[in-house]
Amino acid sequence: MCGIMGYLGERDTVEVLLEGLRRLEYRGYDSAGVAVLVDGKVEVVKAKGKISVLEEVLEGKKPEGSVGIAHTRWATHGPPSKKNAHPHADCKGHIAIVHNGIIENYLELREKLQAEGHKFRSETDTETLAHLFEKYYDGDLEKAVRRGLKEVKGSYAVVAISDRDPGVLIAARQYSPLIVGLGEKPGENFVASDPSAILSFTRKAYLIDNGEMVVLTRDRVEVKTLAGKAVKKSVFHIEWDAEMAEKGGHKHFMIKEIFEQPHALRETIGERIAGGEAALKLDRLNLTDAYLRRVKKVAIIACGTASYAGMAVQYALEKLCGVPVMVDVASELQHRECVFDKETLGIAISQSGETADTLQAMRMARRQGAKLLAITNVIGSSVARESNGVLYIHAGPEIGVASTKAYTSQIMAMLLFCVHLGLVRGTIKPTAARRLLRGMKRLPDQAEEFLEGEAAHVEELARKYKDVMRYLYLGRGAHYCTAMEGALKIKEIAYLDAEGYAAGEMKHGPLALVTEEVGVLSAVVEGPHYEKSIGNLQEIRARGGKVIAVANEGDEEIQKYADDVIRIPKTEEVLSPVLAGIPMQLYAYYVADLWDREIDQPRNLAKSVTVE
Ligand code: AGP
Repeated sequence: MCGIMGYLGERDTVEVLLEGLRRLEYRGYDSAGVAVLVDGKVEVVKAKGKISVLEEVLEGKKPEGSVGIAHTRWATHGPPSKKNAHPHADCKGHIAIVHNGIIENYLELREKLQAEGHKFRSETDTETLAHLFEKYYDGDLEKAVRRGLKEVKGSYAVVAISDRDPGVLIAARQYSPLIVGLGEKPGENFVASDPSAILSFTRKAYLIDNGEMVVLTRDRVEVKTLAGKAVKKSVFHIEWDAEMAEKGGHKHFMIKEIFEQPHALRETIGERIAGGEAALKLDRLNLTDAYLRRVKKVAIIACGTASYAGMAVQYALEKLCGVPVMVDVASELQHRECVFDKETLGIAISQSGETADTLQAMRMARRQGAKLLAITNVIGSSVARESNGVLYIHAGPEIGVASTKAYTSQIMAMLLFCVHLGLVRGTIKPTAARRLLRGMKRLPDQAEEFLEGEAAHVEELARKYKDVMRYLYLGRGAHYCTAMEGALKIKEIAYLDAEGYAAGEMKHGPLALVTEEVGVLSAVVEGPHYEKSIGNLQEIRARGGKVIAVANEGDEEIQKYADDVIRIPKTEEVLSPVLAGIPMQLYAYYVADLWDREIDQPRNLAKSVTVE
């Protein structure tokens, strides 16, 4: 997820662009840049690091012009660096573009363009667009963009300028957000990723939809389909204040990120599931089939929520690949040298990619001869760099301290790896792989269906049980992780006592905790653990505990054993932690909001724990 901005008008263009970038920094902050038309030339200035670094670079050598574009980056392809920062230009520097999204077929396009003589400067997918537009440019930038985009697969919000079409800015959208800001003053117009970037200048906007493109000049805004057909747009009046705009109209980043999960899951799948084949394209995996066949054990290396994502996949890896998996939090694992050897694969999971405990345990594992696979959200992070292979999740920046979209995207990325490992080791047949991959491809839509259909019900339950101060979260099999993650969420943002437990453990002690004051949340999905999980709910209710069950749509039995039921769409049991985690996140969020907690920055916590 990156932030893009464009401007045409009389104001100080670079100042306008920088103001927009500052408002968009929450969308990405590993590098930034501007491109301005100055005396008939495209002038590009960019820098690695936050926008403040770009501002320093621009001090004293600010391009003066009336047309410009800008970008703040969250790396998806190519580590954060000056050369990978946007804007990107074509071979001769006549066209500059900024882009938010993922060009799924960029490698194939890049190879074709290179064969035609185009010279690339960066490792990004985005630069492909600049050369595509150059290829088709024959005096009309709009036509060149239109023809170039016809070859593109994936998601984009792209803005292009050219020194040969100095008075025009072309933009287009497919899945990644884009709006047009209509100048309050005559003679100026804007384009940006979201309203937060333009609020200082105008509150009048056109919301651009998928498959639409925009031709902007200082006095004219035309919206068309990619085929060139005019589209009539009504003016949208932005009511949000700047802070709300950064949160997409949501009250907190956490709830915004909970609702971003369908998009994050789609981006994490990306082009990794190859069509109808039972095959996966896991670029950068960098672990040979021969090595994967030799693996005797997997060790999950992670902390907090990331370790619970690892627990979700422990269940799947053991069930589908027949590989024993051990999970222990990295702060403990780093002292257990005996766990690792040349036949151990360490899977290091980390949203930030900078967690000190995780890095320490990784280094110990490597010293013992283990290979490492990183599952991380930050391109070029330490966890990625110190691993043999990496599977990036493409969840976009996660600003809320409480991890939500990263959790489900991490599980998704590891489930993809699990199917790949099973196919390589022959423990998963192609037919089963196709069935699992079909199920995974449906998860983003199912997550969307749940969020749209059930979020309000979860909020009602949070209100109903607002005064419950002590919780037990219970789960078996695939949902032991759901119990642990659910308990952590309500602990860290609502500051309530909560314990995650393997449901089968209740009779070995924790049942003594159950009274009428205790709330119990438990994921009980159809599968091998269903009957015993029902038994746990019965033992809780027999002692007065209040039970909220997370269960499958269509399960007519469950309401006999629970005070309330939250229903999630049905999927394969091994895939269901992706869906079951979402109601747990929502419940914790709504309870915390009722207690008026500092949800995005809970007390005592930090987003990335870079100290041991
Ligand atoms: C989860 O909500 C917490 N913020 C915390 O447990 C977090 O998951 C843990 O610190 C690991 O962070 P990482 O994924 O960036 O390594």
